[in-house]
Amino acid sequence: MDTVTPVLCDSNLYRYKGFCFFKELNEKEFIDSLQGFKIRDDDVFMITFPKSGTIWMQQILSLIYSEGHRNGTEQIETSKRVPWIDFSSLNNDVKYDHDSRPSPRLFTSHLSYLFVPQGLRNKKAKVIYVMRNPKDVMKSLYHFEAIAVHTQKSPDFDHFFKKFLAGDVLAGSWFDHVRGWYTHKDDFNILFVKYEDMIKDLHSVVKQICTFLGKELDDESLDIVVNRATFKKMQKDPLANKENVPEEYLNLQNGNFMRKGTIGDWKNIFTVAQSEAFDKIFLEKFGDLPINFTWDITEEK
Ligand code: A3P
Repeated sequence: MDTVTPVLCDSNLYRYKGFCFFKELNEKEFIDSLQGFKIRDDDVFMITFPKSGTIWMQQILSLIYSEGHRNGTEQIETSKRVPWIDFSSLNNDVKYDHDSRPSPRLFTSHLSYLFVPQGLRNKKAKVIYVMRNPKDVMKSLYHFEAIAVHTQKSPDFDHFFKKFLAGDVLAGSWFDHVRGWYTHKDDFNILFVKYEDMIKDLHSVVKQICTFLGKELDDESLDIVVNRATFKKMQKDPLANKENVPEEYLNLQNGNFMRKGTIGDWKNIFTVAQSEAFDKIFLEKFGDLPINFTWDITEEK
């Protein structure tokens, strides 16, 4: 389990302790070194399985923490305000010396609970975990393969479906990721947020996040955060929509991050048989957890 093994369906990835890392971007020694990364009490980590709303929460946190972002006086990309901790080999433009960053530091990560710095378990620093219904994660990730340079493309959705269930995608098994964080929640000062709740009532979720973070925003500021974090606004916001990610990482000719931003798009690609097979696996693997997802935009609030 602690050894590095190849990932069957994607030669760009390696598996380590159940998680799938990019060979070129996440060196194992670097990942191991994160255990000792020095945590400050006011650090905030935002954690997601890929395609669960990472850039959305980056935008929300940037807006909550930065007045200059809210009022437009500072033109800094959200990926620089809430940078990744996971990558050892990024070009200088997107590589950070986290130790020299001023507090409070905001971080983005796809890591499972096993790999995050031990210091996060002091319960002073905060973790926000964003989860999304896995059928929509799959649809989104399938499209993302076309633009992610360091990912092997699936020939069709059926192939991808099997690959996802085998956990042969970036970050490994969705089931392990969510279960891991959820069942270890008592080790962390953590808030779970659902993508679907953000779609249904972003205002309430942003308020909940502010309360968790101890950030008091007046009504006007809160409205700005919510407004600037809507899909339509973010789609046109180059500071938030990742349109400036270097082409060595993303081929944006083939699509973009801000794709559909809805609940239930999986219905446009899953066959009935795939959906039923997935439901069965979901029940087997998640039936014991008190986590419910919204699978369709038409479901009641
Ligand atoms: P879709 O591909 O289903 O459209 P991540 O940032 O984790 O990679 O997730 C990307 C997904 O989040 C994409 O889903 C993207 O459209 C969606 N997303 C990003 N910002 C959003 C927003 N403001 N509102 C709704 N969805 C958003």
